[in-house]
Amino acid sequence: MTSPARLAILLSGAGTNMQAIVEACASDKIRAQVVLVASDRVDAPGLARAAALGVPTCAIPPTQGESREQHDQRIRAALEASGADFVILAGYMRILSSAFVESFTGRMLNIHPSLLPRHKGLHTHRRVLQAGELEHGATVHFVTAELDGGPAVLQARVAVLPGDDEQSLAERVQGSEHRIYPQAIEWLVQGRLRLREGRPELDTEPLTAPRIEDHL
Ligand code: GAR
Repeated sequence: MTSPARLAILLSGAGTNMQAIVEACASDKIRAQVVLVASDRVDAPGLARAAALGVPTCAIPPTQGESREQHDQRIRAALEASGADFVILAGYMRILSSAFVESFTGRMLNIHPSLLPRHKGLHTHRRVLQAGELEHGATVHFVTAELDGGPAVLQARVAVLPGDDEQSLAERVQGSEHRIYPQAIEWLVQGRLRLREGRPELDTEPLTAPRIEDHL
């Protein structure tokens, strides 16, 4: 039997997606193990959450005078030391250097709280409400040097309901994230999802648009 794929997760915040991924591994919905949860923030609640789940953690905050490339290089060294095959960004809020991104091409996923390419960047729930949109969601995508711009592979669509505020909408989107992220990661670790010459494929078929799950 081959040993299960090894995942490293990077986070900066609460770590609810990290928890969903660790639990999916424990229940074999993802046939992999989480070997490291790392953060750029010493006080990220997700680190304590990971430790409580029994996952090794480390904090690698940027130091004064250090360039982005130097900081990313220290993170990369920790990921490599963990033996990670894949890198999963789960609320990691620092922009990554292109050298770091290139070293994990096709092996690094991110989840973003919007229906990309709509609403790249921050405050997506607020912007959806301000625009009066009726539909919102989350996107899993391969990470490329373009921020929130890599090829999208799986999206969850959720309805914006009358009376929604930022918090209620964020909770609904996060619930969806916890369903689609483990799914996409399982595709990746099983080799079903690949990046070939910059283009995503699922089960050897080109994925010209992301798969969509309706959680409306
Ligand atoms: C998630 O909603 C994720 O989509 C978002 O941060 C949140 C992390 O929550 N990521 C981004 O905005 C990246 N551009 P969590 O720490 O509870 O998983």
